[in-house]
Amino acid sequence: MTTAGGDAPVARVVDAVLEATVAGSFSRIGFVSRRAVARWDTPPPMDGRVVLVTGATSGIGRAAAVGLGRLGAAVHLLGRDGERAAAAARQVEGAGGTVAGVHLVDLGDLEATADLGARLAAGGGRLDALVHNAGALAATFGTAACGVERTVATGLLGPFSLTRALAPMLAATPSSRIVTVSSGGMYAQRFDLARLVMDERTYHGVTAYARVKRAQVVLAAEWGRRLGDEGVTSVAVHPGWVDTPGLVAGLPTFRRVWRPLLRTAEEGADTVVWLAAGGAGPDVPAGGIWHDRRRHSAYHVPGTRPERRQAADEGPALWAWCEALTGSGRVGPSPG
Ligand SMILES: NC(=O)c1ccc[n+]([C@@H]2O[C@H](COP(=O)([O-])OP(=O)(O)OC[C@H]3O[C@@H](n4cnc5c(N)ncnc54)[C@H](OP(=O)(O)O)[C@@H]3O)[C@@H](O)[C@H]2O)c1
Repeated sequence: MTTAGGDAPVARVVDAVLEATVAGSFSRIGFVSRRAVARWDTPPPMDGRVVLVTGATSGIGRAAAVGLGRLGAAVHLLGRDGERAAAAARQVEGAGGTVAGVHLVDLGDLEATADLGARLAAGGGRLDALVHNAGALAATFGTAACGVERTVATGLLGPFSLTRALAPMLAATPSSRIVTVSSGGMYAQRFDLARLVMDERTYHGVTAYARVKRAQVVLAAEWGRRLGDEGVTSVAVHPGWVDTPGLVAGLPTFRRVWRPLLRTAEEGADTVVWLAAGGAGPDVPAGGIWHDRRRHSAYHVPGTRPERRQAADEGPALWAWCEALTGSGRVGPSPG
């Protein structure tokens, strides 16, 4: 059985207090306290289910792939490097899981990503969960194979292309889910399509990353709006502060200072696995961002919340923008 994130009043109070402190919430303290107070159960079994995890060669994505495999799912692993992907596949199997496939693709290469999506979709079969986890904070400006700044390409365009290709499989599978791994860093930025892609002159890694992470939350909600009637739930998650190779590379000083209080990759992957496995039940409310098995507001920082009318436009505008950059093809009803 699964808990709905601990709805007992004491769990709600503990969660709110942690959330107010930020560090208490995002660090290991938040994970350990919420797990204890809400008495989290093992996520639902996934025997006979199929999932796909991007960025499965390292950190949170690898831990999620292993965790989902352990629950009984057959796991498709997406990576860029053959050896690292093979090592991750061995870990999934070592945990008793099944590897459905190992696929090598750079999500910044939109043609290769679309090809992979098309190949998987042509193979048919079920897809119970698509986990968009791949991502990186790049300190310096760089462009992906598609020519777009790489944070945007990896975090938005590649995942958009993959989701669009795999949407028919998700729609054909009862109660399927899209789980997007965003970041608490997104709280610092408001969504602004005009400022989403930074140029070389103004590029700042933390800002570029936070803007993309904010946009991922907007896009996750938009996929939910478009595919919800077809039984697909789309959620965004932030994993907290997690000790991974990605953190070492992206924020080395932060990692050194906070190291004793960082979550393990498994702890960072917990809510991802739980949601992909059907945690929170059949009627997951739209929007917000999930953290430690509970849905939280996507806005904590003044000036980041859109006006009500703008809020309704953000998802359709971002979706149309991604569509224009990744090629044509429609999924679900048109905006508005
Ligand atoms: N660690 C944290 O504290 C933290 C906090 C908030 C959010 N997150 C988010 O959690 C997710 C996982 O991060 P992590 O900390 O686990 O980092 P990680 O250990 O560096 O893992 C990142 C994964 O993404 C893959 N990847 C990166 N760029 C890619 C691309 N262009 N195409 C395909 N795959 C790509 C990497 O592949 P390679 O093995 O080939 O490099 C790797 O498998 C990211 O979205 C990150 O933004 C992490």
